[in-house]
Amino acid sequence: MTINFRVYFRFIVLSVFYFASIFLYADNVENGEKIYKQNCTACHLMTKARLVGPGLEGVTEKYEKEWLIKWIRNSQALIASGDERAIAIFEEYDKSVMTSFDFSDEEFSDLLAYLANPPVEEVVVSSGVQTVENQGMSNSTILMIIALVLVTVVFLLVSVKNSLKTALGKETETVSQTLINKYKLFVSNNINVLFISAVGLIVGLKFVYDLLMGVGVTTNYQPAQPIAFSHEIHAGINGVDCNYCHTSARHSKHSGIPSANVCMNCHTYISEGSKYGTKEIAKIYEAVGFDPDSRQYIEGYEQKPIEWVRIHNLPDHAYFNHSQHVVAGGLECQECHGPVEEMEVLYQYSELTMGWCIECHRETEVKMEGNNYYTHLHDQLKEKYKGKPITVDMIGGIECGKCHY
Ligand code: HEC
Ligand code: HEC
Ligand code: HEC
Ligand code: HEC
Ligand code: HEC
Ligand code: HEC
Repeated sequence: MTINFRVYFRFIVLSVFYFASIFLYADNVENGEKIYKQNCTACHLMTKARLVGPGLEGVTEKYEKEWLIKWIRNSQALIASGDERAIAIFEEYDKSVMTSFDFSDEEFSDLLAYLANPPVEEVVVSSGVQTVENQGMSNSTILMIIALVLVTVVFLLVSVKNSLKTALGKETETVSQTLINKYKLFVSNNINVLFISAVGLIVGLKFVYDLLMGVGVTTNYQPAQPIAFSHEIHAGINGVDCNYCHTSARHSKHSGIPSANVCMNCHTYISEGSKYGTKEIAKIYEAVGFDPDSRQYIEGYEQKPIEWVRIHNLPDHAYFNHSQHVVAGGLECQECHGPVEEMEVLYQYSELTMGWCIECHRETEVKMEGNNYYTHLHDQLKEKYKGKPITVDMIGGIECGKCHY
């Protein structure tokens, strides 16, 4: 009796260790993901595709850890030291300079864990969930495999023990009989039941958490910006219209970010903010070469564009057009971007998944009246659908080719 209890106790402790180490590992990757999203997504994708810099898929296999840390910490120093691979990649990218990052050792190890193990990307389609498994195994798959291995090991050990006992002529019991007996013995002990329930609860909670978090992969993405620009102050408190700064949203595919010269329309005069004093606004002057004391532009100054970190980013294969939605569709910016005028620091409000686009196309009626995009279609469609509301999907808004090149 006591021996059995000890064996099982050890087994439980071992499994708890197994699961705990997986969770710790997953936390590392999660933290690494945060670091990656805050610092790297402006220039890199986690695929093979090129953005400003190369796609980072498989980069931990291409280079060893020490090299990667040196590169990320200060790529220019590594290049200057004569490192051949660093020089080669620098020249391949026309000598664009990558930002330097002074992370702690722990942050580096989390970041590299993430780079080596980026999570599965999920694409939610309204007709069901389609998982695009292009980036390694998910945590839950790994958990399942480990659970399976554990069960197999127990099964094997019991059968070995039984055959040994049979060989010694002690008893003859089948493996399943043994397991059932052991199970009965096992659940008759309260501590065991408590342990298993605790482990089960943790696994369950973690699973639900991942499920919820996994939906909008980059929803709420809110990177730090080079200047503490607040939409709340500008679009909210001071009521500046979105189109004043994002002029091109009405005319073109892109909304674009205003250049520092647009800021100067007002900040030639406003050099002090109520929250940060002169500190943040001085960065605009630094970009355009303006001397706030003499109120003059510095002659011959080479303007430095402000390097805003991009927040919304659809993959290259998806086509999205702002003017089509804002002008023809008559949508408010807020329907997709949320309460921007209340955001001190801007974040991604919507999922930007395919399911999100399609869901809205299925639900939103096309504004036919006064819409010269569709005057030719108007009567035809009215005739066809006879008084039924005409939603975007009916005019072709869920055809693959409309959104994919
Ligand atoms: C401002 C843009 C920018 C940012 C931000 C940036 N990188 Fe880079 N990265 C580059 C460019 C450009 C290159 C290509 C080499 C060059 O021109 O210096 C590069 C190259 C690399 C390489 C070498 C890849 C290869 O295949 O050879 C790695 C690794 C890398 N970056 C990691 C990172 C990580 C990790 C982060 C975030 C902590 C990051 N980068 C942030 C621009 C950037
Ligand atoms: C005074 C100029 C100004 C006004 C007015 C303004 N914005 Fe912006 N917007 C910016 C700047 C600068 C950025 C880049 C910095 C940032 O992300 O906060 C930006 C970023 C954004 C982004 C994120 C872009 C990305 O990187 O993906 C969205 C979305 C956006 N603005 C929407 C709006 C909406 C909606 C309104 C009106 C309610 C608005 N903006 C009003 C200047 C402005
Ligand atoms: C239409 C006029 C207008 C434009 C254009 C404008 N701002 Fe402002 N900005 C203001 C006003 C008004 C304030 C509020 C000053 C205060 O806090 O009393 C302000 C405050 C600020 C502050 C200080 C925040 C604080 O509390 O310390 C920063 C930083 C700033 N703006 C950045 C920008 C940037 C960057 C741009 C260009 C993308 C820009 N602004 C464009 C009117 C404008
Ligand atoms: C909030 C609702 C909404 C969301 C979200 C939305 N759309 Fe739309 N979309 C519309 C409306 C309304 C129209 C019709 C505009 C018009 O009248 O031409 C439209 C039209 C289109 C069209 C033209 C369809 C045609 O047959 O001409 C394309 C392409 C498109 N959207 C792509 C996208 C993509 C890609 C996304 C996701 C990144 C997206 N939309 C998200 C509302 C939405
Ligand atoms: C139907 C949904 C929808 C509406 C309405 C909408 N946007 Fe966007 N916006 C998007 C999507 C999707 C992206 C990402 C586009 C990409 O990555 O190519 C985006 C990106 C942006 C960006 C980043 C720069 C760019 O063009 O990629 C800015 C700034 C922006 N939107 C501002 C606005 C403003 C201002 C309005 C209102 C005038 C507006 N948006 C209305 C969906 C929308
Ligand atoms: C209304 C616009 C829209 C329509 C219609 C649409 N897609 Fe998409 N699709 C998108 C967007 C936006 C993404 C990127 C979503 C993301 O990154 O999460 C995407 C992503 C995908 C991906 C995933 C690729 C990747 O990067 O992992 C596949 C595959 C795909 N679409 C296939 C299709 C097929 C097949 C159809 C026709 C049945 C279709 N799409 C119709 C907008 C659309």
